[in-house]
Amino acid sequence: MNIAVLGTGKVGSTLGARLTSRGHRVLYGSRTPRGADRLDHRSAVASCDLVITALPGDDVLGVLEEIGDEALGDKILLDPSATITPQIATGHTGDGVAVRVQERFPRTRVVKTLNTMNFAIMVDPLASVPAASVFVSGDDIAAKKAVTGLLGDLGWPDTGIIDLGGIGTATATEQAGSLYFATVRALGDARFSLTVSR
Ligand SMILES: NC(=O)c1ccc[n+]([C@@H]2O[C@H](COP(=O)([O-])OP(=O)(O)OC[C@H]3O[C@@H](n4cnc5c(N)ncnc54)[C@H](OP(=O)(O)O)[C@@H]3O)[C@@H](O)[C@H]2O)c1
Repeated sequence: MNIAVLGTGKVGSTLGARLTSRGHRVLYGSRTPRGADRLDHRSAVASCDLVITALPGDDVLGVLEEIGDEALGDKILLDPSATITPQIATGHTGDGVAVRVQERFPRTRVVKTLNTMNFAIMVDPLASVPAASVFVSGDDIAAKKAVTGLLGDLGWPDTGIIDLGGIGTATATEQAGSLYFATVRALGDARFSLTVSR
């Protein structure tokens, strides 16, 4: 797939590197473009099929507004973002990022996933834990299928992928940010998975 990764921080560079190694063509969108594969946000999106918003949760809508409806069109948008307080204490409450993005860009096919674990677990889920879960939320079935395929490329087994349903369910996983950070503080370590066992 042709993938635009917006944001070149920990999540963006980790997902981008792994997806490139799996044969995908990745272009990065950045506030500081340089070179052939690190472009401005809109240019990165222009030639891709799927956009990953590896951006601070509070900045996702603003960056997408600058890119604009026309450029985003009906592309798939994989949103792994989280909104956290300056104290890194609690997740955002109220309407989540993914719901607000989907409402603002109704043609764009938003899928929320990968927002409930550390970036290292995102691309190597079973390296340090025996089982791991990743949640998927979105209204468009084909978009969720494409994203689930990418999760497989990242190393997620089918049994660990939980389709929660429509985009409204994304807010539940965004609010799990509070639990995630409380657990990081308690364990002093981010190498764990919030996992559904049954
Ligand atoms: N780190 C994790 O383990 C983890 C786990 C789950 C979810 N998340 C979520 O994933 C997202 C990315 O996390 P991260 O750890 O990669 O963060 P990060 O290391 O801080 O990187 C975020 C990137 O977003 C861009 N950016 C920063 N401020 C911006 C602004 N005001 N406007 C536009 N772009 C901006 C920057 O890229 P450029 O300089 O290239 O523009 C920056 O490198 C966040 O929403 C985070 O909460 C992170």
